[in-house]
Amino acid sequence: MNLSLNICKDYTKFDHQIILIDNGTRLSSLGLSSGDADSATKFFDAKVNHIYQRNAGGRTLYIVKLDSSKAEFQLLEESRKAGNTVNKLLNSLKITEASVYNASKKAKLAGAFAEGLLLSNYEFLKYKTKDKNEKTLVSLQLDGRSSNKKELEEISKVATANFLARTLINEPVSYLTAVQLSEEIKKAGKEHGFSVEIFDKKKIEGLKMGGLLAVNKGSIDPPTFTILEYKGYRPTNKKPIVLVGKGVVYDTGGLSLKPTPNSMDMMKCDMSGAAAVVGIFVAAAQLKLPVHLVGLIPATDNRPGMNAYAPGDVIEMMSGLNVEMLNADAEGRMILADALHYAKRYQPELVIDFATLTGAAVRAIGSLASAYMGTANNNVKRKLETSADNVYERLIHFPLWEEYGEWIKSDVADIKNIGPGEAGHITAGKFLEHFTDYPWLHLDIAGTAYLMKEDSYRGKYGTAVGVRMITDFLRNY
Ligand code: BES
Ligand code: ZN
Ligand code: ZN
Repeated sequence: MNLSLNICKDYTKFDHQIILIDNGTRLSSLGLSSGDADSATKFFDAKVNHIYQRNAGGRTLYIVKLDSSKAEFQLLEESRKAGNTVNKLLNSLKITEASVYNASKKAKLAGAFAEGLLLSNYEFLKYKTKDKNEKTLVSLQLDGRSSNKKELEEISKVATANFLARTLINEPVSYLTAVQLSEEIKKAGKEHGFSVEIFDKKKIEGLKMGGLLAVNKGSIDPPTFTILEYKGYRPTNKKPIVLVGKGVVYDTGGLSLKPTPNSMDMMKCDMSGAAAVVGIFVAAAQLKLPVHLVGLIPATDNRPGMNAYAPGDVIEMMSGLNVEMLNADAEGRMILADALHYAKRYQPELVIDFATLTGAAVRAIGSLASAYMGTANNNVKRKLETSADNVYERLIHFPLWEEYGEWIKSDVADIKNIGPGEAGHITAGKFLEHFTDYPWLHLDIAGTAYLMKEDSYRGKYGTAVGVRMITDFLRNY
């Protein structure tokens, strides 16, 4: 259900009223009845829960207490999560509208709360014909004394981008083939204001994108290579920032077939990098950010069809480098390599790629953060980590030491597409590095892009990780 964020004059006019407070807020200052203030004080002293709920005269009051002794970015995350809790509460009661007042002195709490509540309202019901159990909440009214319209509009725009990316991820390959993905991107470009060019198989062959074509060999459906471009007014970057997204619309592992069930169940998510790039473009265009962006999305499914590429094959990549393919399941790096090589023609200021690339990244840190590495300077890395913390899509840095490069040298070709097993996310990064000659960052989102268990406002299944992070990064660029 689409939820709109609005400004109201007086939050007390609504049947469901939410008040945000923190450790420093005096309950007596809220204009509550003395009975209410007393029982809320007792409730919070008991520290069992941080949401006090009280029904009176047909109206319900929810006082949400947030721990302002935390660092700001953690406090904001707590507020988003409280938004999720309240969203669940209101939807379970089939409520359509509620109001919010921020009584704490931390001005940003209201926006974070609204964001968490809005992001929690996402649902993917396209394939449900019954038992939809649709969310009812359609409007959140934020008191004009503690929120402003512009901030709410921006939150809604980023949420729109987040929802679009999540839906692309949640779509199964029975609908979302590589061709369909490129058409969805075209549609998003028309609707939100960025240009989209689609290369078909013939064009991809003409460009000699050997990696993308090799992965596609076992498939019946053709590959696509989609180029997005957005140029805001007076961009702050002189040369483009290129965003590359892994668009494997389904990963069976190819001839190195994944065991099923478990490991294949979630492999429709293997285009989450592509979805993140699309989401970032939607957000940038909606917010009219003053940046110049190019997006590159190589897309195919990875299947063990009759002519599938086989372990031992040597593949000439677009860059001219020869790759010995020893595991057909390490297909992401094969298609990203051609896109990273293609990026050189833009003489980019910075290239960031997003990919559900390795199980090793998941084993290293689970779903709490994405693994990242790259050759961009420390200043850029620091800025990116700050954005990651700001929106709580956290990042952990891994090294690209040259010794790891030795691990993917091939006896028969220039490099091979797998390493020895240890540090698989790093050897994957080293592989990609071969195809770059510009400042570059690689985000391995295998652990964070798709969740089998709900995580607060991030939800269950596709998370659109990267969209909020890079939007924040571009805003501060
Ligand atoms: N798409 C997978 C990685 C993945 C794992 C994504 C879990 C999401 C959740 C990738 O193509 C893959 O299969 N990687 C292999 C590489 C290995 C064969 C070198 C892996 O990590 O096992
Ligand atoms: Zn794979
Ligand atoms: Zn994959």
